Amino acid sequence: MTRVFSGVQPSGDMHIGNYLGAFRQWVEDQHSSDAFYCIVDLHALTVDTDPEMLRSRTVDAAINLLAVGLDPQICTIFVQSHVPEHAQLSWLLECMASMGELRRMTQFKEKGAGRESVRVGLFTYPVLMTADILLYDAERVPVGDDQRQHLELARNLAIRFNNRYGDTFVVPAPSVPRVAARVMDLQDPTQKMSKSSISPTGTVAILDSADQIEKKVRRAVTDPGKEVVYDPVNKPGISNLLDILAAVTGKSNSELATEYHSYAQLKSDVAEALIELLRPIQQRHAQLSADPGEVLAILARGAERAQSIAAVTLERAANAMGLLPPKLI
Ligand code: AMP
Ligand code: TRP
Repeated sequence: MTRVFSGVQPSGDMHIGNYLGAFRQWVEDQHSSDAFYCIVDLHALTVDTDPEMLRSRTVDAAINLLAVGLDPQICTIFVQSHVPEHAQLSWLLECMASMGELRRMTQFKEKGAGRESVRVGLFTYPVLMTADILLYDAERVPVGDDQRQHLELARNLAIRFNNRYGDTFVVPAPSVPRVAARVMDLQDPTQKMSKSSISPTGTVAILDSADQIEKKVRRAVTDPGKEVVYDPVNKPGISNLLDILAAVTGKSNSELATEYHSYAQLKSDVAEALIELLRPIQQRHAQLSADPGEVLAILARGAERAQSIAAVTLERAANAMGLLPPKLI
């Protein structure tokens, strides 16, 4: 079976960009692959986060992943910091990466821009992400479009390591959905929808009420003119709404465009489609939240299975690099 790995940061409310760009693929992949899904709490430390908030968001991230349909009987869900091999392999890989290639990472440039002080972890973030993936010999990594560059780095580091120290890692490939790979902010359709958005009205959270969804979509920024056409360059607002509707309904965005003659009708259908899409997820979220003990037990079992694989890969990499094993083997 193909090994699949992906991760999500417990850094805020999960939104429809996460769902359409990533989680939907994860749910599908769990049936056909040996899939590992990781709540990357170490990555969330790269910007200042309240400790209690981080802990509760980590549990909530797990509840969200279960609510969208991940089944712990057939895939592995775990928390990154529960498997210390992630941080350990990250160090070995930091010794393979160059300052220049990390400096070119656009996410680092965006998140670091304008800050007086930037945490070193924010700079080395993509190396930790590489470690996440390589530890599980993952062949495929289902992610949204914004992670392509990080995946390219992961591939380069795997290839470089294999060339220098012998065949050690599987070289992973990204898997980016054809539609909704980059859901844009409803208030600023030139920016991707994100957990750290400054305008909460631009982001539709997975747990938003029907009323909130309806209001946010109705107030979404649209473009001059009245015609509904799919044109991401000149009509980014309308095109984003068409992309969202296409992703939810399975129709093509340009085909959908021909069905609408007013922005208002399109918005009303987008809101309705999202409300219907999220309703069952919200119901499961409410049920799971009532039993956090069960969620913690799922995470503990997930970490145990993850570690049994990660430990073997870490040892292989450490040996290849010439580290002395702690005991004779
Ligand atoms: P993050 O919220 O950054 O932890 O991302 C978790 C997953 O969701 C990653 O695979 C991202 O690529 C994906 N993702 C995040 N934001 C969006 C978006 N606006 N559109 C599509 N995919 C997204
Ligand atoms: N960097 C990813 C994001 O912000 C999260 C992530 C961390 C990840 N490790 C990963 C995604 C490994 C895929 C594989 O969305």
